[in-house]
Amino acid sequence: MRVLIVGGGGREHAIAMGIAKSPKVDKLYCAPGNAGIAALAECVNIGVMEFDKLVTFAKEKAIDFVIVAPDDPLAGGLVDEFEAAGIRAFGPRKNAAILEGSKAFSKDLMKKYYIPTAAYENFDDAQEALKYLETAKFPIVLKADGLALGKGVLICKTKEEAIAGVKEIMQDKKFGTAGNRMVVEQFMTGREVSVLTFTDGKTIRVMSSAQDHKRAKDNDEGLNTGGMGTFSPSPFYTQEVHEFCVKNIYEPTVEAMAKEGRTFQGVIFFGLMLTPDGPKVLEYNARFGDPEAQVVLPRMKNDLLEVMEACVDGTLDQVDLQFEDNAAVCVVLASDGYPLSYEKGKEITGLEKFDGKDDYFCFHAGSKFADGKIVTNGGRVLGVTAKGSNLKEARKKAYEATEWVDFSNKYMRHDIGKAIDEA
Ligand code: GLY
Repeated sequence: MRVLIVGGGGREHAIAMGIAKSPKVDKLYCAPGNAGIAALAECVNIGVMEFDKLVTFAKEKAIDFVIVAPDDPLAGGLVDEFEAAGIRAFGPRKNAAILEGSKAFSKDLMKKYYIPTAAYENFDDAQEALKYLETAKFPIVLKADGLALGKGVLICKTKEEAIAGVKEIMQDKKFGTAGNRMVVEQFMTGREVSVLTFTDGKTIRVMSSAQDHKRAKDNDEGLNTGGMGTFSPSPFYTQEVHEFCVKNIYEPTVEAMAKEGRTFQGVIFFGLMLTPDGPKVLEYNARFGDPEAQVVLPRMKNDLLEVMEACVDGTLDQVDLQFEDNAAVCVVLASDGYPLSYEKGKEITGLEKFDGKDDYFCFHAGSKFADGKIVTNGGRVLGVTAKGSNLKEARKKAYEATEWVDFSNKYMRHDIGKAIDEA
């Protein structure tokens, strides 16, 4: 088969690694890809929102199967465009990708179908939101309705912070049109867990759990980022929690989307909070998490392409999803200054040290070729991942491997997986 992956970050590198291993693949392309993905796929210089160019390219190259990985093209309807051109594509259609594309939609869905989540109100008007804050309890959570690179969520400890947050989101439009609507939500306490699932719209298959570290600095301080590191599985996601979530969260979500005429085929990422009152949904994403994919996919035993085909073809009930009985940790190497301002174009050295080592992976999140060298090309640059027989071993190996590679403004958190010690 001839396969095209749309995207160019660490998540797409992890997907490319899985797809490249499939004996069904004759040729793999990635648009736009990056310098790491280039070792596995032919990278094509087309952006993820250049829908016409992507479809034309897929037709010219007789692509059999497309994987649309990032949120923006999913929300914009890229899967629908490929389907209209007669090309099989993995990922939710536009009417289902709204599960991530509109926080207000997803909260209303959960309320309508009794899926556990935090109490909330949706607002189209900043004055109404400000009035609501007068009698609200703090801390409180403000969420821009639309997509905002994972950064449109503000946790406000006081009324003053919340008033400033409403202004940022709805009036100053810090997150652009994503802030035309806003969700104001009760603050939940507990452990966060990320659970990725495959679904064909009827059947759901749950992947091994993971935990992300969203803040830029150690001890969960600093600004929100796309994710600074992950581990999998989460020791806090017990069998009991899993069974509760399958019955009360995962299956009801898939059924709810189908009942709404928005059948979801692809990956649903459940961002969960394990609260003292039981697991609740923090957020849905309509795609693999990044960097969750970098610790979950290397542990998956199945042929990734076969599982994705089953999601598209509606045959996921025939898939027995299996994971290795081990653990993985990913530490993100970022450009110092991320997520605000940072320099790019720094030479990355030491990448060859990962060659031939089965338990170690260096996923490229933001890299490119320049003058025959590989240089940094983003805030998140590399996802250094190691597998071990348990979480502690995986963490030790991942941090050792962070020393193998270098670039002049390399920055990382030093406490990824600290929670493992508390388990
Ligand atoms: N790691 C969270 C996300 O992918 O949005």
